[in-house]
Amino acid sequence: MSAPLSRLGILLSGRGSNFLAIADNIAQGKLKGCEIAVVISNKADAPGLDAARERGLNGVAIEARGRKRAEHDAEIIARLQDHKVDLVCLAGYMRLLSPEFVLAFPERILNIHPSLLPAFPGLDAQEQAFTYGVQVAGCTVHFVDERLDHGVIVLQKTVPVLEDDDAHTLSARILEQEHLAYSEAIARVLSGEYKVSGRQYVKA
Ligand code: GRF
Repeated sequence: MSAPLSRLGILLSGRGSNFLAIADNIAQGKLKGCEIAVVISNKADAPGLDAARERGLNGVAIEARGRKRAEHDAEIIARLQDHKVDLVCLAGYMRLLSPEFVLAFPERILNIHPSLLPAFPGLDAQEQAFTYGVQVAGCTVHFVDERLDHGVIVLQKTVPVLEDDDAHTLSARILEQEHLAYSEAIARVLSGEYKVSGRQYVKA
């Protein structure tokens, strides 16, 4: 008998292209051993949520609506637990997680950030990188801890900054790599072949 599929919970707030890349890679057999159990958005009108439902996935809106972060997060945690989620993937989820959320899924929450961390954390990372004048940019998939864009790095991919780039063309080049990086990082985490050792993510 084959091993049960690991269950992914995707959290998003907007477009959802990273979620769709993961879903496509699973559907095409490029990302094996897992399935998407639920897609949760804090925005009811997120295009990514519509895309999830169009694909027949469970798509759930849990709006923050002025609620306290801990209360909103508690509802999301409960929903993820209802769906027996093994790994939480933040894919353009534009809210900070409460410490309770991080504790509920130790080393089981991933985020993707469009810069080579620790450079350019926070919003508009690609624009920050372009404005700074870097010659190499990229993306980072990392575990989520209590600090913004800070947890242990699982995988990074680089792209060159070209002479005729602007922040928009650079973002597009980074996004192509994001769509590869997230699935590779998920495979790495689910393989069980790696462990966190201090700040390093190394072969176990
Ligand atoms: C991506 O650039 C991701 O790195 C960042 O938010 C953006 C989300 O894009 N965290 P999408 O919704 O996955 O298309």
